[in-house]
Amino acid sequence: MNTSHISSVKACVFDAYGTLLDFNSAVMSCADEIDDDSARLSDVWRQKQLQYTCLRNLIGEHPDFWQLTGEALDFSLAAVEIDNPELRERLMALYRELDAFPEVSKTLRRLKGGKMLTTILSNRAPEMLNAAVRANNLHNLLNEVLSVEDAGVFKPDPRVYQLAVDQLDVAPEHICFMSSNGWDTAGAAAFGLKAVWINRYDQPEEHQLRRPYVVIDTLTSLPAMLAVYAS
Ligand code: LAC
Repeated sequence: MNTSHISSVKACVFDAYGTLLDFNSAVMSCADEIDDDSARLSDVWRQKQLQYTCLRNLIGEHPDFWQLTGEALDFSLAAVEIDNPELRERLMALYRELDAFPEVSKTLRRLKGGKMLTTILSNRAPEMLNAAVRANNLHNLLNEVLSVEDAGVFKPDPRVYQLAVDQLDVAPEHICFMSSNGWDTAGAAAFGLKAVWINRYDQPEEHQLRRPYVVIDTLTSLPAMLAVYAS
């Protein structure tokens, strides 16, 4: 159990994919059709999606995340040698409404009950984000749903983390940022937020440049870490 405490936090800002929403749930819903390639397909899809955001940042382009998700899926289906346009459409539709991880709703409710501001800050386009938030009934548990579209660049560009500061009107040192992506916590920590790495997949630590403040394996222990004890 993690017994670290993080003090003077006024707002909790969450990454979406892999942190609140289970990106494996789309491929797993079609696992009977994909068979042995399911885990690889999901993994390559995710890796390519992230690689394409960084690549576009470097090139100076900004297509929305839905387009990048489709491009990444096309690559990953080709990589596992699946040529099935209907399956592609189904996977994209499932991706719009990914399942939230089991502890998400309870954790957000506890944080909100403890007067903490709760917000998503995601690379997803607003339309994709709102679809997933509604599908999981999270809309009443969040003060804001922020998309990188308002910054015109993807994370980990500092202009994206600045969006949270500006929209919430809370100073960086009072914002706690949660992500399951090590590179995202590194970006948030470099910007000056208190970054918590949700290491859901038991990955080795990386990004020594900026260590996350704390590492936990799910969101369950977050309210106690922030000294939020509302039920
Ligand atoms: C997001 C990705 C990076 O939701 O997980 O922003």
